[in-house]
Amino acid sequence: MWVEKYRPAKLSEMVNQADAVSRLSALLKKPQDMPHLLFTGPPGSGKTTMASAVTAEILGQYWRDFSLELNASDERGIDTIRQRIKVFASHTDRRVEVPFRVVLLDEADNMTHDAQTALRRIMEEFSAGTRFILTANYASSIIEPIQSRCAIFRFSRFSKEDVVNHLGSVCRKEKTRYTEGALALVYELSGGDLRQALNQLQAAASIGPVDEQNVKRIFVSAKRGSVKEMVQHAVRGDFQKAREMLAELLFVYGVSETDLLKYINEDASEAKGVDQAELAKVMAEYDYRLIQGAHPEIQLTALLAELGVFGRKAERA
Ligand SMILES: Nc1ncnc2c1ncn2[C@@H]1O[C@H](COP(=O)(O)OP(=O)(O)OP(=O)(O)O)[C@@H](O)[C@H]1O
Ligand SMILES: [Mg+2]
Repeated sequence: MWVEKYRPAKLSEMVNQADAVSRLSALLKKPQDMPHLLFTGPPGSGKTTMASAVTAEILGQYWRDFSLELNASDERGIDTIRQRIKVFASHTDRRVEVPFRVVLLDEADNMTHDAQTALRRIMEEFSAGTRFILTANYASSIIEPIQSRCAIFRFSRFSKEDVVNHLGSVCRKEKTRYTEGALALVYELSGGDLRQALNQLQAAASIGPVDEQNVKRIFVSAKRGSVKEMVQHAVRGDFQKAREMLAELLFVYGVSETDLLKYINEDASEAKGVDQAELAKVMAEYDYRLIQGAHPEIQLTALLAELGVFGRKAERA
């Protein structure tokens, strides 16, 4: 996976994040004085990457034995956390000179308020020999007493220039052909989330050169699930939401109207309560209108409205 292969391991290799890098480098000069750290920011902005790099910088070759990483996929009950941290922190292995042990709590905002309150006490209990690095999307989702014990670093989305340059350098290392326009498109469609950008880039590269056509194909197939969601909104009667999703699929992701019609047909056929015979007739009608050159957005919007009628009939039945 390119997201792992090209994940920078050192502060000096980070793309941008200059503010965080310079503040962290200053703290790392005297690691014994380092406070706990809290990294906040949107998905794919490099929080976890930075947390691992800081850990590696502090612990050097000993990171494996002196750091504990707990992420959202692990059991997050506070008793489990306490138990694991306790076992980890109470090792008195002092063969090597490391300033402290590091506990990395990734996606700490997934913890309940009560769990965070308990975490705060754990942090106090073990703070002599242990530092915590927490990551979260928003600082506000972390309770105040924890925030106030941490130095907070706010990560922002990567800029277009950073993303396009980084993707270009990955393509060159992978000896993949690409166009600048295609990389700009990957940036637009992934909204500054570098993880998503790298994943989609790799997917596009796996079907051929990274040009705009292949990038669109990848994002369209990634959007297949949105069609299903849109159909569900329509059938449930949330016409406005369905309509917004349609506009996004058509104009942002450039899904063609014929593909959309095909997907809507598949998803509506599976929707509960929809009269299949009626559906077939309606689909045939819209298929015909589109072939005749009717306005695609108007037609597909009307189709969503028809799906709502099916939904209401199913409810009454
Ligand atoms: N500063 C950076 N320079 C170059 N690549 C980076 C940088 N930061 C992150 N990346 C790349 O982006 C990917 C996603 O970053 P990361 O997992 O750190 O994001 P995150 O902020 O933790 O996201 P989430 O909130 O979803 O967990 C990494 O796998 C890495 O390949
Ligand atoms: Mg992360």
